[in-house]
Amino acid sequence: MHADLIIYNIKTLYTPHGPYQRGRNMNNIVTVDNAFIAVKDKLILHIGNGDYSMFQSNETLLYDARGLIATPGFVDSHTHLVFGGSREAEFSKKINGVPYLDILASGGGILSTVAMTRAISFESLLRKSMGSLYELGSYGVTTLEVKSGYGLNLETEIKQLEIVKALNEQTPFLLIPTYMGAHAVPTEYKGNKDKYLQSITKDLSEIKKRDLASFVDIFCEDSVFNYEDSKQFLTKAKELGFGIKIHADEIVSLGGAGLAVDLEASSADHLMAINDEDIIRISQSNTVANLLPSTSFYLNKDYAPARKLIDGNAIVSLSSDLNPGSAPSENFQLMCQIACNKLRMTPQEVLTATTINAAFNLGVSDIVGSLEVGKKADIVLMDSLNLEYIFYHFGVNHTKDIFKEGTLIYQNRRFI
Ligand code: NIG
Ligand code: FE
Repeated sequence: MHADLIIYNIKTLYTPHGPYQRGRNMNNIVTVDNAFIAVKDKLILHIGNGDYSMFQSNETLLYDARGLIATPGFVDSHTHLVFGGSREAEFSKKINGVPYLDILASGGGILSTVAMTRAISFESLLRKSMGSLYELGSYGVTTLEVKSGYGLNLETEIKQLEIVKALNEQTPFLLIPTYMGAHAVPTEYKGNKDKYLQSITKDLSEIKKRDLASFVDIFCEDSVFNYEDSKQFLTKAKELGFGIKIHADEIVSLGGAGLAVDLEASSADHLMAINDEDIIRISQSNTVANLLPSTSFYLNKDYAPARKLIDGNAIVSLSSDLNPGSAPSENFQLMCQIACNKLRMTPQEVLTATTINAAFNLGVSDIVGSLEVGKKADIVLMDSLNLEYIFYHFGVNHTKDIFKEGTLIYQNRRFI
Protein backbone atom coordinates (compact mmCIF):
# COMPACT_ATOMS: atom_id res chain seq x y z
CA MET A 1 0.00 0.00 0.00
CA HIS A 2 1.22 3.51 -0.80
CA ALA A 3 1.72 6.19 1.83
CA ASP A 4 0.43 9.78 1.83
CA LEU A 5 3.57 10.84 3.64
CA ILE A 6 6.97 9.32 4.29
CA ILE A 7 9.22 10.86 6.94
CA TYR A 8 12.71 9.64 6.10
CA ASN A 9 16.29 10.26 7.22
CA ILE A 10 15.44 9.82 10.91
CA LYS A 11 18.72 9.24 12.72
CA THR A 12 17.09 6.99 15.33
CA LEU A 13 13.48 6.35 16.23
CA TYR A 14 12.65 5.54 19.88
CA THR A 15 9.32 4.14 21.05
CA PRO A 16 7.82 1.92 23.73
CA HIS A 17 5.15 -0.59 22.73
CA GLY A 18 1.58 -0.73 24.03
CA PRO A 19 -0.76 -1.12 25.71
CA TYR A 20 1.47 -0.15 28.69
CA GLN A 21 4.72 -1.20 30.30
CA ARG A 22 5.04 -1.94 33.98
CA GLY A 23 8.03 -1.94 36.33
CA ARG A 24 11.42 -2.60 34.81
CA ASN A 25 9.76 -3.32 31.46
CA MET A 26 9.44 0.44 31.18
CA ASN A 27 13.04 0.24 29.94
CA ASN A 28 11.94 -1.73 26.87
CA ILE A 29 12.34 0.91 24.20
CA VAL A 30 12.41 -0.17 20.57
CA THR A 31 15.06 1.71 18.57
CA VAL A 32 15.33 1.85 14.80
CA ASP A 33 18.37 3.47 13.18
CA ASN A 34 18.18 5.27 9.84
CA ALA A 35 14.44 5.01 10.16
CA PHE A 36 11.45 6.06 8.09
CA ILE A 37 7.77 6.32 8.99
CA ALA A 38 5.12 5.83 6.31
CA VAL A 39 1.76 7.49 7.05
CA LYS A 40 -1.60 6.81 5.41
CA ASP A 41 -4.92 8.47 6.32
CA LYS A 42 -3.41 10.06 9.47
CA LEU A 43 -2.24 6.69 10.79
CA ILE A 44 1.12 4.95 10.85
CA LEU A 45 1.25 2.55 7.91
CA HIS A 46 4.77 1.24 8.39
CA ILE A 47 7.99 1.86 10.30
CA GLY A 48 11.20 0.64 8.75
CA ASN A 49 14.78 1.47 8.01
CA GLY A 50 16.67 2.08 4.79
CA ASP A 51 14.74 1.80 1.55
CA TYR A 52 11.19 3.16 1.66
CA SER A 53 10.46 3.09 -2.09
CA MET A 54 7.89 0.31 -1.87
CA PHE A 55 5.59 2.71 0.06
CA GLN A 56 6.09 5.58 -2.34
CA SER A 57 3.84 6.68 -5.22
CA ASN A 58 3.79 9.87 -7.31
CA GLU A 59 1.43 11.46 -4.81
CA THR A 60 3.45 10.62 -1.71
CA LEU A 61 4.85 13.59 0.16
CA LEU A 62 8.45 13.00 1.21
CA TYR A 63 9.64 14.74 4.36
CA ASP A 64 13.36 14.86 5.15
CA ALA A 65 13.89 14.50 8.93
CA ARG A 66 17.43 15.84 8.46
CA GLY A 67 19.04 13.32 10.80
CA LEU A 68 16.83 14.30 13.74
CA ILE A 69 15.62 11.66 16.18
CA ALA A 70 11.94 10.66 16.46
CA THR A 71 9.75 9.88 19.45
CA PRO A 72 5.99 9.52 19.89
CA GLY A 73 4.16 12.75 20.74
CA PHE A 74 4.22 13.16 24.52
CA VAL A 75 1.03 12.55 26.51
CA ASP A 76 0.52 14.83 29.52
CA SER A 77 -1.96 12.95 31.70
CA HIS A 78 -2.49 15.58 34.42
CA THR A 79 -2.91 19.31 33.77
CA HIS A 80 -4.98 22.20 35.10
CA LEU A 81 -4.48 24.14 31.87
CA VAL A 82 -7.62 26.30 31.99
CA PHE A 83 -7.56 28.99 34.70
CA GLY A 84 -7.95 32.74 35.10
CA GLY A 85 -5.08 34.99 36.17
CA SER A 86 -1.88 33.94 37.90
CA ARG A 87 -0.54 33.79 41.45
CA GLU A 88 2.77 35.67 41.51
CA ALA A 89 1.22 37.86 44.23
CA GLU A 90 1.60 34.86 46.57
CA PHE A 91 5.12 34.00 45.42
CA SER A 92 6.91 35.97 48.16
CA LYS A 93 4.81 34.24 50.84
CA LYS A 94 5.86 30.92 49.39
CA ILE A 95 9.51 31.97 49.25
CA ASN A 96 9.27 33.04 52.90
CA GLY A 97 8.13 29.53 53.75
CA VAL A 98 4.37 29.91 54.25
CA PRO A 99 3.05 26.36 53.59
CA TYR A 100 0.85 25.67 50.54
CA LEU A 101 -2.09 24.47 52.66
CA ASP A 102 -1.88 27.56 54.92
CA ILE A 103 -2.15 29.87 51.90
CA LEU A 104 -5.24 27.89 50.83
CA ALA A 105 -6.76 27.96 54.35
CA SER A 106 -6.47 31.75 54.42
CA GLY A 107 -8.57 32.04 51.26
CA GLY A 108 -5.65 32.24 48.82
CA GLY A 109 -4.10 29.53 46.68
CA ILE A 110 -6.68 27.60 44.66
CA LEU A 111 -9.37 30.01 45.96
CA SER A 112 -7.64 33.07 44.46
CA THR A 113 -7.57 31.31 41.12
CA VAL A 114 -11.26 30.44 41.53
CA ALA A 115 -12.11 34.13 41.91
CA MET A 116 -10.09 34.99 38.78
CA THR A 117 -11.59 32.09 36.79
CA ARG A 118 -15.13 33.11 37.70
CA ALA A 119 -14.44 36.70 36.70
CA ILE A 120 -12.81 36.17 33.27
CA SER A 121 -14.97 36.00 30.14
CA PHE A 122 -15.25 32.84 28.08
CA GLU A 123 -13.44 34.43 25.14
CA SER A 124 -10.53 35.74 27.24
CA LEU A 125 -10.16 32.44 29.07
CA LEU A 126 -10.20 30.58 25.76
CA ARG A 127 -7.47 32.80 24.35
CA LYS A 128 -5.34 32.54 27.49
CA SER A 129 -5.69 28.75 27.65
CA MET A 130 -4.91 28.41 23.96
CA GLY A 131 -1.65 30.32 24.45
CA SER A 132 -0.66 28.02 27.27
CA LEU A 133 -1.68 24.95 25.24
CA TYR A 134 0.55 25.93 22.31
CA GLU A 135 3.40 26.60 24.75
CA LEU A 136 2.97 23.09 26.21
CA GLY A 137 2.63 21.70 22.70
CA SER A 138 5.93 23.26 21.67
CA TYR A 139 7.64 20.79 24.03
CA GLY A 140 6.21 17.90 22.02
CA VAL A 141 2.97 17.24 23.93
CA THR A 142 0.26 16.19 21.45
CA THR A 143 -2.32 14.66 23.85
CA LEU A 144 -3.26 15.97 27.28
CA GLU A 145 -5.75 15.65 30.09
CA VAL A 146 -7.27 18.93 31.35
CA LYS A 147 -9.11 19.33 34.66
CA SER A 148 -11.75 21.82 35.67
CA GLY A 149 -11.75 22.74 39.36
CA TYR A 150 -11.26 26.50 39.36
CA GLY A 151 -14.98 27.25 39.10
CA LEU A 152 -16.31 25.41 42.13
CA ASN A 153 -19.81 26.31 40.98
CA LEU A 154 -21.61 24.54 38.18
CA GLU A 155 -21.62 27.53 35.85
CA THR A 156 -17.87 28.13 35.94
CA GLU A 157 -16.96 24.44 35.98
CA ILE A 158 -19.02 24.10 32.79
CA LYS A 159 -17.26 27.17 31.37
CA GLN A 160 -13.89 25.51 31.92
CA LEU A 161 -15.02 22.22 30.38
CA GLU A 162 -16.59 24.02 27.41
CA ILE A 163 -13.21 25.66 26.85
CA VAL A 164 -11.57 22.23 26.75
CA LYS A 165 -14.15 21.27 24.14
CA ALA A 166 -13.44 24.42 22.13
CA LEU A 167 -9.69 23.76 22.29
CA ASN A 168 -10.32 20.26 20.96
CA GLU A 169 -12.19 21.75 18.02
CA GLN A 170 -9.94 24.74 17.34
CA THR A 171 -6.44 23.27 17.78
CA PRO A 172 -4.70 20.14 16.51
CA PHE A 173 -4.21 18.69 20.00
CA LEU A 174 -6.23 15.88 21.60
CA LEU A 175 -7.59 17.02 24.97
CA ILE A 176 -9.30 14.74 27.49
CA PRO A 177 -11.52 16.55 30.01
CA THR A 178 -11.77 15.79 33.73
CA TYR A 179 -14.38 17.28 36.08
CA MET A 180 -12.73 18.40 39.33
CA GLY A 181 -15.42 20.29 41.22
CA ALA A 182 -13.89 18.58 44.27
CA HIS A 183 -10.70 20.64 44.10
CA ALA A 184 -11.43 22.74 47.21
CA VAL A 185 -14.39 23.97 49.25
CA PRO A 186 -15.38 27.38 47.84
CA THR A 187 -15.61 30.41 50.11
CA GLU A 188 -19.43 30.49 50.02
CA TYR A 189 -19.47 26.97 51.54
CA LYS A 190 -16.74 27.66 54.13
CA GLY A 191 -17.35 25.42 57.14
CA ASN A 192 -20.01 23.53 55.14
CA LYS A 193 -17.94 20.95 53.33
CA ASP A 194 -20.65 18.29 53.43
CA LYS A 195 -23.19 20.60 51.84
CA TYR A 196 -20.72 21.42 49.09
CA LEU A 197 -20.05 17.73 48.49
CA GLN A 198 -23.79 17.09 48.22
CA SER A 199 -24.11 19.85 45.68
CA ILE A 200 -21.24 18.65 43.46
CA THR A 201 -22.44 15.08 43.74
CA LYS A 202 -25.68 16.34 42.18
CA ASP A 203 -23.72 18.24 39.53
CA LEU A 204 -22.07 15.00 38.38
CA SER A 205 -25.30 14.03 36.60
CA GLU A 206 -25.43 17.36 34.77
CA ILE A 207 -21.80 17.01 33.65
CA LYS A 208 -22.58 13.50 32.44
CA LYS A 209 -25.74 14.58 30.65
CA ARG A 210 -23.81 17.24 28.77
CA ASP A 211 -20.99 14.77 28.07
CA LEU A 212 -18.42 17.30 29.25
CA ALA A 213 -15.93 15.02 31.03
CA SER A 214 -14.38 11.57 30.67
CA PHE A 215 -12.96 11.48 34.20
CA VAL A 216 -13.76 12.78 37.68
CA ASP A 217 -10.98 13.72 40.13
CA ILE A 218 -10.85 14.82 43.80
CA PHE A 219 -8.19 16.48 45.96
CA CYS A 220 -7.88 13.97 48.84
CA GLU A 221 -5.77 15.98 51.25
CA ASP A 222 -5.51 17.15 54.83
CA SER A 223 -8.02 19.96 55.41
CA VAL A 224 -9.48 19.59 51.90
CA PHE A 225 -11.42 16.32 51.22
CA ASN A 226 -10.76 13.31 53.45
CA TYR A 227 -10.69 9.58 52.68
CA GLU A 228 -14.42 9.04 53.28
CA ASP A 229 -15.43 12.10 51.21
CA SER A 230 -13.27 10.84 48.37
CA LYS A 231 -14.63 7.33 48.58
CA GLN A 232 -18.25 8.43 48.44
CA PHE A 233 -17.78 11.02 45.72
CA LEU A 234 -15.71 8.80 43.44
CA THR A 235 -18.00 5.83 43.97
CA LYS A 236 -20.91 7.93 42.75
CA ALA A 237 -18.86 9.16 39.78
CA LYS A 238 -17.98 5.59 38.89
CA GLU A 239 -21.64 4.53 39.07
CA LEU A 240 -22.46 7.26 36.58
CA GLY A 241 -19.88 5.86 34.17
CA PHE A 242 -16.98 8.29 34.60
CA GLY A 243 -13.39 7.11 34.76
CA ILE A 244 -11.91 8.15 38.11
CA LYS A 245 -8.67 9.72 39.33
CA ILE A 246 -7.47 11.02 42.66
CA HIS A 247 -4.98 13.62 43.87
CA ALA A 248 -3.55 11.38 46.57
CA ASP A 249 -0.84 11.60 49.20
CA GLU A 250 0.51 14.88 47.85
CA ILE A 251 1.32 16.57 51.15
CA VAL A 252 -0.08 14.36 53.90
CA SER A 253 -0.75 10.61 53.52
CA LEU A 254 -4.48 9.93 53.94
CA GLY A 255 -4.49 6.56 52.16
CA GLY A 256 -5.72 7.97 48.84
CA ALA A 257 -3.51 5.66 46.79
CA GLY A 258 -5.00 2.59 48.47
CA LEU A 259 -8.48 3.98 47.83
CA ALA A 260 -7.61 4.40 44.16
CA VAL A 261 -6.69 0.70 44.00
CA ASP A 262 -9.89 -0.33 45.82
CA LEU A 263 -12.02 1.70 43.40
CA GLU A 264 -9.99 0.58 40.36
CA ALA A 265 -9.25 4.21 39.51
CA SER A 266 -7.32 4.81 36.32
CA SER A 267 -4.66 6.70 38.31
CA ALA A 268 -3.54 7.98 41.68
CA ASP A 269 -1.60 11.19 41.22
CA HIS A 270 1.26 12.86 43.15
CA LEU A 271 2.10 10.15 45.76
CA MET A 272 4.93 12.12 47.34
CA ALA A 273 3.74 10.97 50.79
CA ILE A 274 2.48 7.47 49.84
CA ASN A 275 2.97 4.83 52.57
CA ASP A 276 4.86 1.57 52.02
CA GLU A 277 1.78 -0.61 52.14
CA ASP A 278 0.10 1.39 49.39
CA ILE A 279 3.29 1.29 47.29
CA ILE A 280 2.91 -2.48 47.24
CA ARG A 281 -0.83 -2.36 46.58
CA ILE A 282 -0.63 0.07 43.67
CA SER A 283 2.36 -1.77 42.23
CA GLN A 284 0.30 -4.93 41.98
CA SER A 285 -2.70 -3.19 40.41
CA ASN A 286 -3.60 -1.66 37.05
CA THR A 287 -4.07 1.77 38.65
CA VAL A 288 -1.37 4.00 37.20
CA ALA A 289 0.97 5.78 39.63
CA ASN A 290 1.05 9.22 38.06
CA LEU A 291 4.04 11.22 39.35
CA LEU A 292 4.42 15.00 39.05
CA PRO A 293 8.03 16.00 39.71
CA SER A 294 7.64 19.69 38.79
CA THR A 295 5.26 20.01 41.75
CA SER A 296 7.79 18.56 44.22
CA PHE A 297 10.37 20.92 42.81
CA TYR A 298 8.11 23.95 43.05
CA LEU A 299 6.66 23.18 46.51
CA ASN A 300 10.11 22.24 47.83
CA LYS A 301 8.70 18.89 48.89
CA ASP A 302 9.93 15.32 48.79
CA TYR A 303 9.98 13.58 45.43
CA ALA A 304 7.67 10.60 44.91
CA PRO A 305 9.30 7.19 45.48
CA ALA A 306 9.53 6.34 41.79
CA ARG A 307 12.25 3.71 42.24
CA LYS A 308 10.25 1.78 44.83
CA LEU A 309 7.21 1.92 42.56
CA ILE A 310 9.04 0.83 39.43
CA ASP A 311 11.09 -1.81 41.21
CA GLY A 312 7.82 -3.03 42.75
CA ASN A 313 6.34 -3.43 39.22
CA ALA A 314 3.95 -0.45 39.10
CA ILE A 315 2.68 1.18 35.92
CA VAL A 316 4.20 4.66 36.28
CA SER A 317 3.36 7.76 34.26
CA LEU A 318 4.73 11.30 34.58
CA SER A 319 2.88 14.58 34.04
CA SER A 320 3.39 18.32 34.22
CA ASP A 321 0.53 19.14 36.67
CA LEU A 322 0.57 22.51 34.88
CA ASN A 323 -1.31 24.86 37.24
CA PRO A 324 -0.96 28.39 38.65
CA GLY A 325 -0.05 27.34 42.20
CA SER A 326 2.19 24.30 42.52
CA ALA A 327 3.52 23.94 38.97
CA PRO A 328 3.32 27.12 36.88
CA SER A 329 5.34 25.85 33.91
CA GLU A 330 4.62 24.41 30.47
CA ASN A 331 8.16 23.06 30.22
CA PHE A 332 7.32 19.39 29.85
CA GLN A 333 10.89 18.44 29.03
CA LEU A 334 12.20 20.10 32.22
CA MET A 335 9.72 17.95 34.15
CA CYS A 336 11.22 14.88 32.43
CA GLN A 337 14.74 16.03 33.29
CA ILE A 338 13.74 16.47 36.95
CA ALA A 339 12.32 12.93 36.84
CA CYS A 340 15.70 11.58 35.75
CA ASN A 341 17.69 13.53 38.30
CA LYS A 342 15.41 13.48 41.32
CA LEU A 343 13.15 10.46 40.81
CA ARG A 344 16.17 8.51 39.55
CA MET A 345 14.28 7.29 36.52
CA THR A 346 16.21 6.20 33.43
CA PRO A 347 15.65 8.07 30.15
CA GLN A 348 13.92 4.93 28.83
CA GLU A 349 11.57 4.81 31.82
CA VAL A 350 10.82 8.51 31.40
CA LEU A 351 9.95 8.08 27.71
CA THR A 352 7.60 5.21 28.56
CA ALA A 353 6.07 7.18 31.45
CA THR A 354 5.34 10.19 29.24
CA THR A 355 3.99 8.30 26.22
CA ILE A 356 2.41 4.85 26.37
CA ASN A 357 1.81 4.67 30.14
CA ALA A 358 0.31 8.15 30.18
CA ALA A 359 -1.92 7.16 27.24
CA PHE A 360 -2.97 4.02 29.12
CA ASN A 361 -3.78 6.20 32.14
CA LEU A 362 -6.13 8.24 29.93
CA GLY A 363 -7.67 5.19 28.25
CA VAL A 364 -6.31 6.10 24.81
CA SER A 365 -3.32 3.77 24.47
CA ASP A 366 -4.98 2.02 21.53
CA ILE A 367 -4.72 5.20 19.43
CA VAL A 368 -1.76 7.25 20.75
CA GLY A 369 1.32 6.92 22.98
CA SER A 370 3.63 4.88 20.78
CA LEU A 371 4.89 4.68 17.22
CA GLU A 372 3.21 1.48 16.05
CA VAL A 373 1.35 0.52 12.89
CA GLY A 374 -2.32 1.57 12.99
CA LYS A 375 -1.84 4.30 15.58
CA LYS A 376 -2.22 8.03 15.02
CA ALA A 377 0.89 9.51 13.40
CA ASP A 378 1.74 11.79 16.34
CA ILE A 379 5.48 12.19 15.89
CA VAL A 380 8.05 14.52 17.43
CA LEU A 381 11.38 15.15 15.73
CA MET A 382 13.99 16.22 18.26
CA ASP A 383 17.24 18.03 17.62
CA SER A 384 19.08 15.62 19.86
CA LEU A 385 21.96 13.16 19.49
CA ASN A 386 20.05 10.29 21.09
CA LEU A 387 17.35 9.59 23.70
CA GLU A 388 19.62 10.17 26.69
CA TYR A 389 20.69 13.58 25.38
CA ILE A 390 17.11 14.93 25.57
CA PHE A 391 17.08 14.44 29.33
CA TYR A 392 20.75 15.17 29.95
CA HIS A 393 20.83 18.63 28.37
CA PHE A 394 18.32 20.20 30.71
CA GLY A 395 16.16 23.32 30.74
CA VAL A 396 16.05 23.69 26.95
CA ASN A 397 13.48 22.58 24.39
CA HIS A 398 14.82 19.92 22.01
CA THR A 399 11.70 19.80 19.82
CA LYS A 400 12.29 20.76 16.20
CA ASP A 401 9.26 19.47 14.24
CA ILE A 402 5.91 17.96 15.26
CA PHE A 403 3.38 15.93 13.27
CA LYS A 404 -0.12 15.52 14.68
CA GLU A 405 -2.08 12.78 12.92
CA GLY A 406 0.30 13.01 10.01
CA THR A 407 0.00 16.79 9.61
CA LEU A 408 3.07 18.95 10.12
CA ILE A 409 2.00 21.46 12.81
CA TYR A 410 5.39 22.69 14.04
CA GLN A 411 8.51 23.14 11.97
CA ASN A 412 11.92 24.54 12.87
CA ARG A 413 10.63 25.47 16.33
CA ARG A 414 7.53 27.33 15.17
CA PHE A 415 3.86 26.40 14.83
CA ILE A 416 2.69 26.67 11.23
O1 NIG B 1 -2.19 19.26 41.56
N1 NIG B 1 -3.24 19.79 44.52
C1 NIG B 1 -4.20 20.32 43.99
N2 NIG B 1 -4.22 20.86 42.81
C2 NIG B 1 -3.07 21.32 42.12
C3 NIG B 1 -2.66 22.67 42.57
C4 NIG B 1 -3.68 23.66 42.26
C5 NIG B 1 -3.33 25.07 42.59
O2 NIG B 1 -2.53 25.35 43.52
O3 NIG B 1 -3.91 25.92 41.92
C6 NIG B 1 -1.97 20.29 42.18
O4 NIG B 1 -0.91 20.47 42.79
FE1 FE C 1 -3.02 18.53 40.03
